[in-house]
Parts: sequence; structure tokens; C-alpha cells
Amino acid sequence: MADLVIVTDDGPVRTVRMNRPEKKNALTMAMYDAMAAGIESAAQNPATRCLLIAGAHTVFCAGNDIGDFLQAASTGGALGAPILRFLYALARCELPLVAAVQGNAVGVGTTMLLHCDHVVAASNARFSTPFVGLGLVPEAASSLIAPRLMGHARAFSLLVMGRPLDAEEAKAAGIVSTVAAPDAVENEAMKAAREIAELPPQGVLASRRLMRGKPDEIVARIDEEAELFKARLQSAEARAAFEAFMTRKK
Ligand code: COA
Repeated sequence: MADLVIVTDDGPVRTVRMNRPEKKNALTMAMYDAMAAGIESAAQNPATRCLLIAGAHTVFCAGNDIGDFLQAASTGGALGAPILRFLYALARCELPLVAAVQGNAVGVGTTMLLHCDHVVAASNARFSTPFVGLGLVPEAASSLIAPRLMGHARAFSLLVMGRPLDAEEAKAAGIVSTVAAPDAVENEAMKAAREIAELPPQGVLASRRLMRGKPDEIVARIDEEAELFKARLQSAEARAAFEAFMTRKK
């Protein structure tokens, strides 16, 4: 079986790639752990100056694996430890984060981008966070970061009403930095990552720290959301939504 997450170092840029295209890069616990490890260990390599998060082929990420959600709902489980590890790794990451987004970015596929510094989106990218429709609440500190980034009204439309954004709308909302043709996204994102990597590294780290502030507030919100998420996961409405997806007829 191919690695579901591929971590590669190319000079100063580390790429963390989700690689489960047959399931639209829906994230399993093992994938969260592998992504977290790829981000955490980058800090230990002084040659690494920038991280690039990408999907496989034509899809970025369909969010959490809904089968895993269903299992957690049935067993009284919480947001799994690997999910929290990944979210903390994002929140505490000191290195600049670039993302290359093609196709769908659903749920955590979108909320992870709120932790990124430069997002290159394909013109066919689509961003959505159907948490509430699934009986859940937003996660990854999106309930804190999104309203700050795009204002309450647009954040409510995205996070609560579940209305998707296309690439240009996501750019206008401040999630996306640049929109590119689908076949140019990866190159554009790598170009940006290399551009960042060539800057004086301590200057980049210090500036980023100033702009992002201390991660403690973000981590506290991740925890607060996770508590609510746990309760919602076990709700009858969430379970019904997961079952409907898993048994849907195409
Ligand atoms: N969890 C588990 N499996 C998923 C999944 C997810 N989040 N997203 C997609 N898949 C699976 C599908 O069940 C399907 O599996 P199958 O081939 O064994 O039937 C496969 O991935 C391909 O998905 P499909 O829906 O056929 O692709 P699409 O291109 O028509 O649609 C999406 C792509 C992402 C729009 C659609 O799959 C989707 O809405 N997924 C759910 C997203 C979601 O709600 N995530 C949770 C957010 S909190």
C-alpha cells in the first residue's frame, strides 16, 4: 500500500503530501499522526526553512474520514489524539507554512489553511466546512481565526451555514493568497516556498511570530472546540449524518 502521507525534503522546503486520492484524501488517524510528525520534525532540521502542504493529484482533502467519525460516535470516543496532535503541530509550527490546493478542500481541508501563511489555490479549488450540517461544530480554532480573517458575516456563512467558497471568493476572504491554473498550482506553491526560504531565516521567523502572536490562545480554542466536538460527535444528529454519507447511493 502506498504511503498515505509522503514527506519529502527538497533543499530548504519540506513537503507534506496527503496521498489517499481514491478517498479524496479523507484523513485517517494514521494520516494525522504522519502529518503531525512531518511538521514537528521539520523544526529539528536547521536546513528546513519552509513547509509545503499539498494533496495528491487533483484533490486537496475531503476532511476527516467520516467512517472514523462514525466509529468514534458509536464508541463514545472523542476527537482522536492524532487529530489534536496535528492541530497543535499546526498552531505551534514556527516555520512558514505554504499550501497548494487543487479541487475540494472540505472540513479540516479548509480549516488547516487558516494556519498557513501563503495558500496557492487552483481556479477549480472549492472550500467548504460542512460541520454544522453534519451535526458538529467547527474545529482547528477556525471559530477564532476565521471571523478575525474575514469578518463575522463571511465566517458565519462558511462555518455555520456551510456555504462553499470558490477560489476567487476564498482569496477575497483572505484564505487564499494566489489563484493559479490547476496544472500550475504545485509549481507556484513551490516557487513561493523557495522564495520564503531564501529570505533571512531569523527575520522570517521573528516577523511571523510577531504577526501570529503566541499560539496559546489558538491552542486554548482548539481545546474548547474539541470538548464541544466530542459531545456533538455522540449526538443522534451527527450519527445520522455520518450514516447517511457512508450509505449514500451515487
Ligand atoms: N470520509 C470517508 N470517505 C470519503 C470522504 C470522507 N470525508 N470523502 C470522500 N470519501 C470517499 C467516498 O465515500 C468515495 O468512496 P468509494 O469510492 O469507496 O465510494 C470516495 O472517497 C470518492 O468520493 P466521491 O464522493 O465519489 O468523490 P466526488 O469527487 O464525487 O466528491 C467530495 C468529493 C469531497 C465533494 C465528497 O466526497 C464529499 O462530500 N465528501 C465528504 C466531505 C465531508 O463532509 N467531510 C467531513 C468534513 S467535517
